[in-house]
Amino acid sequence: MHSFNYKKGVLHCENVSMEEIAKQHPTPFYLYSSKTIMDHFCKIKNAFKEIDPLICFSMKSNSNLSICRALVNAGSGLDIVSGGELYKALKTGCPPERIVYASVGKTEDEIRTAIRKGILFFNIESVPELIMIDTVAKKLKKKPNVALRINPDVKARTHDYITTGTKEKKFGIDTRVAEEIFDNANKYSNVVLNGIHLHIGSQITETAPFVRAIKKTLDFIEKNGIDIKWFNLGGGFGIVYNSERARSAKEFARALLPIIKDKPYKFIFEPGRFIVGNGGVLVTKVLYVKTGSGGKQFAIVDAGMNDLLRPSLYEAHHDILPIVKSKRESRKYDVVGPICESGDYLALDRKMPEIIPGEYLSVMSAGAYGYVMASNYNSRPRGAELLVKNGDVKTVRRRETYQDLIRGEKNIP
Ligand code: LLP
Repeated sequence: MHSFNYKKGVLHCENVSMEEIAKQHPTPFYLYSSKTIMDHFCKIKNAFKEIDPLICFSMKSNSNLSICRALVNAGSGLDIVSGGELYKALKTGCPPERIVYASVGKTEDEIRTAIRKGILFFNIESVPELIMIDTVAKKLKKKPNVALRINPDVKARTHDYITTGTKEKKFGIDTRVAEEIFDNANKYSNVVLNGIHLHIGSQITETAPFVRAIKKTLDFIEKNGIDIKWFNLGGGFGIVYNSERARSAKEFARALLPIIKDKPYKFIFEPGRFIVGNGGVLVTKVLYVKTGSGGKQFAIVDAGMNDLLRPSLYEAHHDILPIVKSKRESRKYDVVGPICESGDYLALDRKMPEIIPGEYLSVMSAGAYGYVMASNYNSRPRGAELLVKNGDVKTVRRRETYQDLIRGEKNIP
């Protein structure tokens, strides 16, 4: 469910015509619906209210300050993975005690800053990392909370690149090693080892892998008599991009609540995509239409893989809708960007009403892992991020300029 709908043949974001927005702002740009994003946050919060979890929005999916701030103001915490995200998280006004920090490669500097700022806890991914945090904490005379990220070796049906909970992946700690760490907790006397973290992957549209992973981990905790306060269940709830049947927050809750609701832990979720994925689109303009030498039709648009990498990197499907509906006959197109790579596409062999130069297209479900993965490849300035809120269109990040492209760069002879 989202707030991008046709009204009288024109795509609207909430009640604002996207044709009007596109006429007033240079393309490509990201456009977000505040209502959709807040609705999705509330959906998770309400579905799980029986356990009153702390929802820590996963900033890696969309770290725009205004979006994160709105979520923080609604009671969200933030899941961060770098010093940069910590910096941005604090800028949004997020109380440090609502920030959790995962990542297999936290640097000493990043750890020091996070301890100083007093974040809720670190999700630990390895023994050497635990030793590093313990050592830094000792020097700072602080005692941060830490949660062990368990690798439960549970496979979920999703793209291999975003599967994290199986044993051949770099994430998390094997239960045997985790057991040893808990048994020898006194070795790490400068941290409080009081949490368990799980995150088995992203864009998971079934409930079963979550159930399996949680059950396995609960067994592990109970079998070993491990005393924890926090159980962080991670993110990963999938959304509808194409024809998949994604689960609603209520369906996830119905599957998970029975196994967790009587447990004496404080639960955390770290959803990213579920909250922002369908709340944003990428608006692009058609530059040219050409017939390739093999007879293929190419619609060349002004957004490329530098703006939205997901199709090129994961062969991800994003619906593409014309902003103004037409009755023109449908045909098949490769919708491609201006970048000098054949992998630069937004859609392949996509059946769409005849595309004409100058028209605007909306690449749907681009609110998560869209702008955050954009780059300046081919020296292309990144477009703006716009947010529709209460009927107004706000620029929540301006379009980059050519000066931005050389910021920090030296032009030495
Ligand atoms: N927690 C941890 C520890 C994570 O690694 C992630 C995502 C999340 C939470 C949030 O997962 P979500 O609820 O958004 O599924 N770039 C890829 C997705 C990478 C996900 C990385 N980790 C994509 O575009 O599909």
